[in-house]
Amino acid sequence: MVYHVPVMVEEVVAGLVADPDGAYVDATAGGGGHSWALLQALGPKGRLLAVDRDREAVAVAQARLAADTRAVVRQGRFAELSELLAQEGIGPLSGVLFDLGVSSHQIDAPARGFSYRADGPLDMRMDAEVGPTAAELIAACSESKLAELIARYGEERAARRVARSIYRQQRLEPLITTQALRQAVAATRPQMLNKTLARVFQALRIAVNDELGQLQAGLTAAEVGLKPGGRLVILAYHSLEDRLVKQHFAALVRGCICPPRVPICTCGRKSSFKRVGYKFQRASESEVKQNTRARSAILRIYEKIEAG
Ligand SMILES: C[S@@+](CC[C@H](N)C(=O)[O-])C[C@H]1O[C@@H](n2cnc3c(N)ncnc32)[C@H](O)[C@@H]1O
Repeated sequence: MVYHVPVMVEEVVAGLVADPDGAYVDATAGGGGHSWALLQALGPKGRLLAVDRDREAVAVAQARLAADTRAVVRQGRFAELSELLAQEGIGPLSGVLFDLGVSSHQIDAPARGFSYRADGPLDMRMDAEVGPTAAELIAACSESKLAELIARYGEERAARRVARSIYRQQRLEPLITTQALRQAVAATRPQMLNKTLARVFQALRIAVNDELGQLQAGLTAAEVGLKPGGRLVILAYHSLEDRLVKQHFAALVRGCICPPRVPICTCGRKSSFKRVGYKFQRASESEVKQNTRARSAILRIYEKIEAG
C-alpha cells in the first residue's frame, strides 16, 4: 500500500527551489515523496535535511532516500529544527518545506488511533514513544477543560455536550479505543455524525501533539535558519494551522507596527519577508480528482528579504 501521495508537488518544488545548489529542509518528511521530488530539482552540490517526529516515517523516508548522498533523514520535532541543523552542519538555508498534518499512513493504520473509521487504541501520538496518548489526555482532563479543547481545536459548537457524554462513558469504563470515543460522540446524536467525529478527533490530535505550538516554533526556527532570498513553503490542511501561518507572516511582511496616523515610523521594525506569487494556491481539479486529500490543501510561499 502507498505510504502517502504527496500534494501539489510541482507547485511546492517550483515555489521552493530557487538555488539548485542550496541547502534545504523538508520538515515533514513523511514517506519522502516531497523530499524525493526536491532532490530531482537540486544540483550536485544541493543538500537536503528531511525531518519527521514519527519514527515509522523516518524509516520509510530513509529507505526511499538512502541512495542519494545529498540527503540526510533525522527524527525530530519542529521545535528541534535549529538543533538538528547545527548537528548536521547544514545552513544557512535556501528553503524550508512544511507539509502539515498527518500522513495517509498515519490515518490508515488503526494501531495509531487517528481514525474514527477503524477500531484501534486511542493513541494519536505522531511520535508513538513520547508524551500522553489521547486516552491518557482524556483521563487526566476535567470535563470543562476537554470541552474548551474540543471547541478551540475542533471548532465544534456542541463541545460541551460532547465532553459531557465522553465523561459519562469514562466514569463507567475508561475510554481507551477509537470506537469507544466514537460511541460517546454518537450518543449526543449530532445531525452530521461524521463531521462531528472529524472535528472531535482533530481537536484531540492537535492537543496530543501540541501541533500549533510546534508549528509556531518551527516557523520561528525556519525564519532564523533561512538566508536572504531563502523561501518557506507551507501546505496547511485546516483553518487553524493556516490562520496561524497567515497571521505569523502578515506581521513579518508588514514590519512597521506604528498606527496609520503616525507620520514617521517610530517602532523601527522593518519587513523581513515578502509573499511570493498569489496570496495562496489550491490544488488543481485534476489533482483533487486523483487524490481527495489535496482538496483541503492551502499552499503559501514566503521569501526572506535583506534587512533594510
Ligand atoms: C502530510 S505528512 C507529510 C508527507 C510528506 N510530505 C510526503 O511527501 O510523504 C506530515 C508529516 O509531518 C510529520 N509532522 C507533523 N508535525 C510534526 C512536527 N511538529 N515535527 C516533525 N514532524 C511533524 C508527521 O509525522 C507526518 O509524517
